[in-house]
Amino acid sequence: MAEAKTKSAVTIRDLQTFEDLKQMDEVEREVWGLSDIDTTPLTLVIATKEAGSIWVGAFDGTKLVGFAFGFLGLENGRLIVHSHMLAVREPYRNSHLGYNLKLAQRERVLAIRVDDGRTDSRTNDPRITDTRISEMTWTFDPLQSRNAHLNFTKLGVVSENYKVDLYGPETSSVLHRNGTDRLWVTWPLSSRRVSDRLQGKDNRAEVLDALSTLTPLIHFNGDGKPARTDLAAALNRQRIAIEIPSDIVEVERKDPALAWEWRLQTRWAFTEALNAGFSVAEFCRTVRGQQGPGVYLLEKAKVEDYVPEMKRKPVNGR
Ligand SMILES: CC(C)(COP(=O)(O)OP(=O)(O)OC[C@H]1O[C@@H](n2cnc3c(N)ncnc32)[C@H](O)[C@@H]1OP(=O)(O)O)[C@@H](O)C(=O)NCCC(=O)NCCS
Repeated sequence: MAEAKTKSAVTIRDLQTFEDLKQMDEVEREVWGLSDIDTTPLTLVIATKEAGSIWVGAFDGTKLVGFAFGFLGLENGRLIVHSHMLAVREPYRNSHLGYNLKLAQRERVLAIRVDDGRTDSRTNDPRITDTRISEMTWTFDPLQSRNAHLNFTKLGVVSENYKVDLYGPETSSVLHRNGTDRLWVTWPLSSRRVSDRLQGKDNRAEVLDALSTLTPLIHFNGDGKPARTDLAAALNRQRIAIEIPSDIVEVERKDPALAWEWRLQTRWAFTEALNAGFSVAEFCRTVRGQQGPGVYLLEKAKVEDYVPEMKRKPVNGR
């Protein structure tokens, strides 16, 4: 039984050898159902690894059953690590492997010391600037309840950026059939918020309390369709709620037109709210019993207002 095996036998370690890296292709194809044109070429995998990108894997013996890939990036003048892929093979899911791969990425990013390579002209000593990287970013489909739960509830990401059709209208991936809209999320690695989440302290009680007095901007109507409420009234409040289905993959399979309706309505709601200065702060996966729906909670605030560690240093001392 794969589930039992994962708990006892799966280890998390860096992808090191050619044999390790070669297995990435198979996992990528299995998890996303990609065609040749969309899989990552092995030469690029090797080049990114050699050039310092982070490739962490979950191994059952020598078999790769999941992985996370992140590369260095520059966002708003800050060095970050952008995590481009996280995947766990189906039989190994829901045993915290996705979570543990993110923890392994975090550990590796926090261990990076950026040396600008200069030498002190007076002493000839190499000058170690000891710059650290304090944020990771990645994207996910905001209609995917499990990813929203993993990212917001368990890991503590925040977001103020919604990308419409980031990878184009569709790709060969089975997970990209309903447009490719993405929330661009930031994980403030050393913040109080994240360390609280990693110790298992989530905000469920506070979020449920806030949701109890809110009419969601998008909510389920009686027959499972998304319905809008008044935008002007929502933008006037301190918080906005946006509901999503508990399993969009199932909706896509049974009723693609309904899944598309959810895409359009949530795209509208996120775009309007983020343009008006809201940010995405929380997600709660079950607000009306086990079958969902899940609900996002947006705050009329910049992320740095509730994650002080994300305050940007003024440019040129201003
Ligand atoms: C996203 C993914 C990596 C998660 O891997 P995983 O090993 O199952 O992750 P974990 O077990 O650590 O966490 C999954 C959580 O989602 C929960 N979950 C599962 N289905 C859910 C749903 N429909 N709604 C809400 N939560 C759900 C699980 O209960 C678990 O939370 P818990 O530990 O609090 O119970 C895996 O599902 C995957 O490979 N998906 C396809 C590729 C993908 O979406 N990658 C990420 C974006 S690039």
